Amino acid sequence: MEIDGIIGRIATNLEHLKQYTATPGEGCTRLPFTKEARDAVNYLTTIMKEAGMQVREDAAGNVIGVLEGKNPEAPCVMMGSHYDSVINGGDFDGIAGVVCGIEVARQLRDSGIMQDRNFVVVGFCDEEGMRFGTGYFGSGAMLGDRDVEYCKSFKDKDGVSIYDAMVEYGLVPEKIREAAWAEGSIGQFLELHIEQGPVLDTENVEIGLVEGIVGIQRYQVTVHGRADHAGTTPMDMRMDAVDAATKVISKIPDWAREKADGTVATTGYIRTIPGGMNIVAERVEFTVDIRSMNNDNINDIANRIRAALEREVKAMGGSYEINAKLEITPVFLSKEMLSRMEEGCKKHGYSYKYLPSGAGHDSLEIGQVIPTAMLFVPSRDGRSHCPVEFTKYSEFAKATVIITELAMQLLSE
Ligand code: GLV
Ligand code: MN
Ligand code: MN
Repeated sequence: MEIDGIIGRIATNLEHLKQYTATPGEGCTRLPFTKEARDAVNYLTTIMKEAGMQVREDAAGNVIGVLEGKNPEAPCVMMGSHYDSVINGGDFDGIAGVVCGIEVARQLRDSGIMQDRNFVVVGFCDEEGMRFGTGYFGSGAMLGDRDVEYCKSFKDKDGVSIYDAMVEYGLVPEKIREAAWAEGSIGQFLELHIEQGPVLDTENVEIGLVEGIVGIQRYQVTVHGRADHAGTTPMDMRMDAVDAATKVISKIPDWAREKADGTVATTGYIRTIPGGMNIVAERVEFTVDIRSMNNDNINDIANRIRAALEREVKAMGGSYEINAKLEITPVFLSKEMLSRMEEGCKKHGYSYKYLPSGAGHDSLEIGQVIPTAMLFVPSRDGRSHCPVEFTKYSEFAKATVIITELAMQLLSE
């Protein structure tokens, strides 16, 4: 494989895709079912075709490229990641894995050997869950886990449902089930992603072999109190939604720390309504995101949140709702495929390290049912989900070489 060519194409494609952001100059904001998403999908379609693939968009907004093998009916080898981003995120999270997957396909095509099975590259729609507070929409749909009811249930901050956003984007939510792949049709799944943390960069390691990915639960909570005058309502005669909500929120980080095993819990969004300095808040909305490699820890923290809400909101005299937006159990990735890639790293003299992922990925969803392996490349200073996110193109190229060699082995078995 000609590494300079690989580096050059990865650079060209990622530099091009950078422009598809709703916040130019302030990082990548490419939310699902928007113009930026459509532009990125169009570009990915073009470069997938150039790499020799047949391309289509499925009913969930995933873009799918197929490099046909001799036996197209056999279970395929699939590689992919997501093309959406968080708000003001970086230029590499997700999309780099799609671009590198397309490069793997190109290498397979250029090898001149027709593989036995199909190699499929997917750009997944809405992995982040940024817009609707959910996550893994495209990968979930591929596994048959998303339906019309789901699309109608979740709304963005402007009240637009997934359903309405899909229609506006040109998709037909009623057909969402058509995005599901038949059982047994995907043989293996591979993903290349930036680490998004500091371990590889700090230790000067070139490749991360991802052993497992944390389980995640996400909740949207609303606490209802009563709006009153901040100056005239005595402290024992008010129903202050902020008072009750913050008594719960402030305990959540300690419950995660107590686990002392890498469990994390985050309240990343809080809104008070009506939001006036001199008004007792009538309502507080907040989110909770809990992650761990141990699902019991996630359940325990979620239960403690429910119990604390019950107690504090009752004491305040109001009411609350807690809605689950995502519940996904931790996943352990394929030791067999990881050890083959370890051999690849040794062969090329690339330094490597086994590590778990605290970030969620499409592999978390797909890996629940399909043998899955994932590689990380270093993130400079561990920064991600922010505009300064950076990885050298040469690092992507090394991981691309390792995955290409694994794909070649798998496709001929
Ligand atoms: C996605 O990057 C997540 O881990 O939330
Ligand atoms: Mn992300
Ligand atoms: Mn990602």
